[in-house]
Amino acid sequence: MSALFEPFTLKDVTLRNRIAIPPMCQYMADNGVVNDWHHVHLASMARGGAGLVVVEATAVSPEGRITPGCAGIWSDEHAQAFVPMVQAIKAAGAVPGIQIAHAGRKASANRPWEGDDHIAENDPRGWNTLGPSPVAFGANLPKVPQEMTLADIARVREDFVNAARRAREAGFEWIELHFAHGYLAQSFFSEHSNKRTDAYGGSFDNRSRFLLETLAAVREVWPENLPLTARFGVIEYDGRDEQTLSESIELARRFKDGGLDLLSVSVGFTIPETNIPWGPAFMGPIAERVRREASLPVTSAWGFGTPQLAQTAIESGHLDLVSVGRAHLADPHWAYFAAKELGAENASWTLPAPYAHWLERYR
Ligand SMILES: Cc1cc2nc3c(=O)[nH]c(=O)nc-3n(C[C@H](O)[C@H](O)[C@H](O)COP(=O)(O)O)c2cc1C
Repeated sequence: MSALFEPFTLKDVTLRNRIAIPPMCQYMADNGVVNDWHHVHLASMARGGAGLVVVEATAVSPEGRITPGCAGIWSDEHAQAFVPMVQAIKAAGAVPGIQIAHAGRKASANRPWEGDDHIAENDPRGWNTLGPSPVAFGANLPKVPQEMTLADIARVREDFVNAARRAREAGFEWIELHFAHGYLAQSFFSEHSNKRTDAYGGSFDNRSRFLLETLAAVREVWPENLPLTARFGVIEYDGRDEQTLSESIELARRFKDGGLDLLSVSVGFTIPETNIPWGPAFMGPIAERVRREASLPVTSAWGFGTPQLAQTAIESGHLDLVSVGRAHLADPHWAYFAAKELGAENASWTLPAPYAHWLERYR
């Protein structure tokens, strides 16, 4: 028996194994509307055997996109475009999830392979960005965001609510709030980017407010029986790691009290100058600490993309689910080959009959 291929149940949803496809932007949408590329990209990974497939950061409003090519879900038309993809993911035996997002001050950027920097001020493709305070990220993203008014905050919170409602209507069974990677929610939590002096800045409680209010508002519309999750950067690697981590764990406890079912533990990416100890599975021990101290199921990504590392992350109790991203870009059948390599007899599901008949018989 392979721990990686044990089913995982959260609320009324059971994943056939512990392998999740984390959200991965494709920058290929047309005015936010997803298309055949997104369908092929995600359905192939579902077909390849992963248990959970989470759609890329999907903007709750046009100005919440990272780039002009990012996916969106700010209208019913946008939501409808996801329906064939959702059905294909389900037909392939995986659970369809979506990450809903607002890029905040990191929005209005060029695609990674076209510069990965802010779109120039005089370029009509760009737009004004929003943030808790008029503080730029810096480096490749120098644009100063507009400080959000209380009305802006209420509007974006409502955009998250409408996005969640539409996601459910499109058939998604798992939702992830993007509270990570220096985007809007993470930038409210971080003292690097949040210099406010009102109820949304300053103290821990105030910096947590936007995130907790957004979670509470989404909780109202997202069905109780389906997983409500978030991705959150619990550490910045900026030299204040223990302080940030213990604050983050306290926030994770409050997320749990607010109805969160699982946390995807990640890095903050709120400032460009950090000292991230990149390496295989480096987030494992940190995710385990969050899991233990906040008593929340967790997943994490960043370098778990070999079968043995992924399996060890589950066996050691670091993670409940392993998120394997880039390895799936290279091979959408990663889960199938991982099952073979690990000798996972409990993973016979990876082969639907028409494939099993031929592959098992003539191998
Ligand atoms: C092409 C690409 C797009 C990504 N887009 C997102 C995204 O939309 N939302 C997000 O939270 N993380 C995003 N990430 C980060 C991945 O979810 C994941 O954390 C990262 O790839 C590390 O995992 P890996 O080592 O298994 O690839 C992206 C990564 C890649 C490679």
